[in-house]
Amino acid sequence: MSNIILIGAQWGDEGKGKIIDLLAERSDIIVRYQGGNNAGHTVKFEDKKFVLHLIPSGILHAKKVCVIGNGVVIDPKALEDEIAMLKAKSVNVRGRLFISDQAHIIFPYHLLIDELLESAKGSGKIGTTKKGIGPCYADKVARRGIRVVDLMNDKVFKSRLKFILDEKNLLLNKIFRTKSLSFQSIYREYQRYRSFLKPFVCNTSVLLDEAYKKRKKVLFEGAQGTLLDVDHGTYPYVTSSNASAGGAITGAGVSPARIDKVIGVVKAYTTRVGEGPFPTEFSPKLMEHVRTRGEEFGATTGRPRRCGWFDAVIGRHAVRINGLGELAVMKLDVLDELSEIKICTAYRYKGKTYKHFPADIEVLENCTPVYETHPGWKTPLDHIHRFQDLPKNVKKYLKRLERLLETKVSIVSVGSKRIQTIFVKR
Ligand code: IMP
Repeated sequence: MSNIILIGAQWGDEGKGKIIDLLAERSDIIVRYQGGNNAGHTVKFEDKKFVLHLIPSGILHAKKVCVIGNGVVIDPKALEDEIAMLKAKSVNVRGRLFISDQAHIIFPYHLLIDELLESAKGSGKIGTTKKGIGPCYADKVARRGIRVVDLMNDKVFKSRLKFILDEKNLLLNKIFRTKSLSFQSIYREYQRYRSFLKPFVCNTSVLLDEAYKKRKKVLFEGAQGTLLDVDHGTYPYVTSSNASAGGAITGAGVSPARIDKVIGVVKAYTTRVGEGPFPTEFSPKLMEHVRTRGEEFGATTGRPRRCGWFDAVIGRHAVRINGLGELAVMKLDVLDELSEIKICTAYRYKGKTYKHFPADIEVLENCTPVYETHPGWKTPLDHIHRFQDLPKNVKKYLKRLERLLETKVSIVSVGSKRIQTIFVKR
């Protein structure tokens, strides 16, 4: 297998960073294809902790090439900070990081509008990361975006920024009743970013095509998760990109015919950050226990994550949407102390049973989960390295997940360290 897409099969934060880091070792190129610095991939590498927001975690492996594809939205300031952070920890990115000339750029008005929209929405807010992601993608689709290639050409950049900023200032003044943003200050700031970005910019679709012809192995790392996908998630409580496997195709400029396998990452339970329906959300006592044991706080915003039981309805949805061939089950050790563990197998609403993920937000918000209850294992898993050494009840739990999702579990994680990973051999 050479070309793999790795995606989150829940609402993000499944622990993709750790698996990407492990798979990166066996890959030549690691590609980010959607989202922006709303993502936060935490990786423990050689006893140092790294939180990466934009740059693929593969960058921590000295010989790997990393790509930020056309589907990503780039905040140049955040990228500059991330590169500086890596440099300070002796990770060099020059000659190894390539950025698509077609990626769209986040501007100060995107951040401001994200903030204003979120505060204006009141109780109907999305709970975004306020990194300007939604407004930047909205501009891309409305054909009011500025791409990296546009920034590289001063004439194009100047006229695009002028035209777009005039429109944004009108919106800021008349609708949001706030002050205009200064063209000169944005123009000057982004001129500086042009020089900083230039050495990294190329046509990354061509780069990936050439790599394919040389039989290089490519790992496409998804950000967020399937249930946050703008098409397939809990709309409107989603992010603004295609976080599912399809996003890798358009967001990296590669053919679907070149993908060999899609791996889904799930937690042994479920979490989500921000607003939106969450049928299997725990009661406060259990929430506190799992949140504390699992250190469930957002890597980007520090917000406490909402936690709940494993939901096989969304799991099956993720398997179908992404064509998952394998599952990595993360953070199994977080459940060590529970005497009973539940799995949601369906939803019930107004006398109807839903086995497939319903798109209707009213159903999602008000449904009652149908649970089956499994005995816990009540023993620490963090020191176990082989599948055969896992307690009987853990194996049963994993088998049940496999049956419900009709997908094999190939990786089990029982702690944040690399050695706390079990590769399931069959
Ligand atoms: P946005 O992507 O900042 O627009 O936020 C939209 C929704 O996606 C909010 O509920 C965020 O909390 C959520 N979100 C965005 N990025 C991540 C992530 O990396 N992990 C988990 N949730 C995320």
